[in-house]
Amino acid sequence: MNIIKNSLPEGGFPIVGVSNVRKSYVIGSLEIPVLSDIDLKLERGELLDIMSSSGSGNSTLVNLIDCLDRPTEGQALVRGRDLNRMSDQELAILKGLEIDFSIRTFNSVPLLTAFENVLLPTFANMRINIDPTKRARELFKVMEIQNRVNHRPRKLSGGQSQRRSIVPLINDPTILLADEPTGNLDSRTGS
Ligand SMILES: Nc1ncnc2c1ncn2[C@@H]1O[C@H](COP(=O)(O)OP(=O)(O)OP(=O)(O)O)[C@@H](O)[C@H]1O
Ligand SMILES: [Mg+2]
Repeated sequence: MNIIKNSLPEGGFPIVGVSNVRKSYVIGSLEIPVLSDIDLKLERGELLDIMSSSGSGNSTLVNLIDCLDRPTEGQALVRGRDLNRMSDQELAILKGLEIDFSIRTFNSVPLLTAFENVLLPTFANMRINIDPTKRARELFKVMEIQNRVNHRPRKLSGGQSQRRSIVPLINDPTILLADEPTGNLDSRTGS
């Protein structure tokens, strides 16, 4: 697994700290080792690329940082909080306050429009100090899908859905995670 830093930190305390992390899944009596000896530190303003071959644990590592799972061994800190020492409820609150996630499978509620889907996470987030509707319109424009705001998710193409899934930046998260967020986009749109 290659972990590459692409920018300089703005300073301050680490936002994410992973040390000596091992992660395995257990299915019945079978243990599937996935991550071993993973160390990384992420400070405010830093951009990190994680690259490895398919099935080797990229999403598993991202899920840990996303507070969806805990390490089997070692320590994972998000905003200084040790994931292994937190309850499921505390993890959900930390995730809701600090993290947003853009993924290749675009989580959408099928009965809501693209615009309503984008606004959905803002109902649970108390950090917003801007008008979420205005911000959502701006982001749809940046993503060049402003003519799709009132369409249901299944009416959007794969690439349009992917661009829509990036719009959750609306919550101005401390940590933005992306798991293959541009796989369905052409190279110009992806960059
Ligand atoms: N919940 C789970 N239970 C059991 N095994 C799992 C679970 N999630 C992932 N795995 C296994 O862990 C390994 C790593 O999975 P992961 O999804 O992290 O891979 P990945 O590097 O993201 O792959 P890809 O690039 O194909 O998305 C795989 O062998 C996968 O089958
Ligand atoms: Mg993956």
